[in-house]
Amino acid sequence: MIALRAVGLSISLLVSVLASADVTHTVANREAYAQPFTGLDDGQLERFFRGRGLFRQAWVVAPSRDETVDGLGPLYNRVSCIACHPKNGRGQAPGQGEALRSMLLRLSVPGQDAQGGPKPHPVYGDQLNELGVPGVPGEGRAHVHWQEHAVRLGDGATVMLRKPSIELRELAYGPLDEVLTSARVGSPVFGLGLLEAIDASTLQAMAAEPKPDGVTGRVNTVWSVERQGTEAGRFGLKANQPDLRQQIAHAMLGDLGITSTLAPEQNCTPAQQACARAPHGGEPELDALQLGDLYFYLAHLAAPARRQRAEPVVIKGEQLFSAIGCTACHRPELVTGKHPLYPALSQQRIAPYTDLLLHDMGAGLADGREDFLASGRQWRTPALWGLGLSERINPGSGFLHDGRARSLQEAIVWHGGEAQIARQRYVGLGVQEREAIRVFLESL
Ligand code: HEC
Ligand code: HEC
Repeated sequence: MIALRAVGLSISLLVSVLASADVTHTVANREAYAQPFTGLDDGQLERFFRGRGLFRQAWVVAPSRDETVDGLGPLYNRVSCIACHPKNGRGQAPGQGEALRSMLLRLSVPGQDAQGGPKPHPVYGDQLNELGVPGVPGEGRAHVHWQEHAVRLGDGATVMLRKPSIELRELAYGPLDEVLTSARVGSPVFGLGLLEAIDASTLQAMAAEPKPDGVTGRVNTVWSVERQGTEAGRFGLKANQPDLRQQIAHAMLGDLGITSTLAPEQNCTPAQQACARAPHGGEPELDALQLGDLYFYLAHLAAPARRQRAEPVVIKGEQLFSAIGCTACHRPELVTGKHPLYPALSQQRIAPYTDLLLHDMGAGLADGREDFLASGRQWRTPALWGLGLSERINPGSGFLHDGRARSLQEAIVWHGGEAQIARQRYVGLGVQEREAIRVFLESL
């Protein structure tokens, strides 16, 4: 009941006001991350499917015959959103020497921009765009090298962990020295409307609440382009985006090179002349209606319901998960506030297993790159709902921000910093107890 104390609300009072729309679903096949809420009307479903089409759309170079989906680049990483969020789920880290696939590399130089965010590299900007349209050289290639090391668990079992290091090659615009980099794989994109509907005051209350084991937690405070002020951050792996609409506009520009009302300038730096001269696909390339449809789609993707809840081993794993301190960050229950646009998202009791707060996760996971209030050691607690379907939906995709963990156990053993005490307790468990935690996580 940690979550309830945190938000200062009583469930018994809330039950009566909970909305009737069902924000979970029981589909457990490869489409389990792509289901709408039940109870959407025909018009809403139409909008949902238009947004889905845009999320799956392969954008093309301008000028083209279909002006509604052209404007790719001039510099970009992939031609579609789904390329890095396959089946709306986790991306995959590349193997030794392979191309980045669903990974991207954030870039910056020390210091802050005018809004307090990371300071882009003067020539390469804030993300390595590996590809360019004809006539515009891609920025370069990132190669991942993996180093392995063994970790001993309390009962003598060994876990092999692997850590990536990045090598930059074929840099087309000169040297990229003393740059801060952060490699990340695409994360699951369902359930995000519900996370958007959690009141900022709830986030602040969770951050302020005393927690066990030296766990703290910080609300990131980031820039809203739409409202021209600072707000609580929620999206992105360091919670550097205040809302879903801005997150989408940022992804469209940064990953595909598609401009929108919220990100109207092409992502060419002054040193990238050919980029600035390349034809564009309209101003903006993604119109307001399309941005709205994408937003509606992502906001109404339901979370998979839990499975096998009543099995004794699942119940045991759930108790252990709480007893060893995992729920200090992975909160099993939150209640959404009033969503400004979409009533179906309001006053819902949800089980996301996140607090959306930033936590110091130790040196092993640190990227050393600050992002608004997030330090180089902090990450936002990821939601764990739907986790158990991940292997079915995206076989072989990893866990953690850069996909380094090949199993749930590896992900847990990587925990450090504020999670060090919980991690030590996990490492000290016997094999059957660790197994119960795995089975519980797979029931999510
Ligand atoms: C090159 C790979 C790539 C492409 C293409 C891509 N994404 Fe992402 N996406 C990511 C990564 C990596 C993150 C984590 C971002 C971060 O923390 O900086 C992310 C994060 C997100 C999030 C936030 C998830 C969360 O839990 O906070 C949303 C929403 C999202 N992307 C939507 C989109 C949309 C919409 C598109 C298409 C316009 C898109 N993405 C294209 C890699 C990609
Ligand atoms: C101090 C807060 C905190 C505690 C305590 C904590 N976690 Fe986490 N957990 C995180 C953060 C932050 C990440 C993401 C780290 C990263 O991506 O580098 C994470 C990632 C994970 C992931 C990977 C999820 C994914 O989608 O990649 C799993 C699984 C997980 N935690 C399980 C656990 C378990 C089991 C425990 C208890 C032993 C635990 N966590 C305790 C904050 C915490």
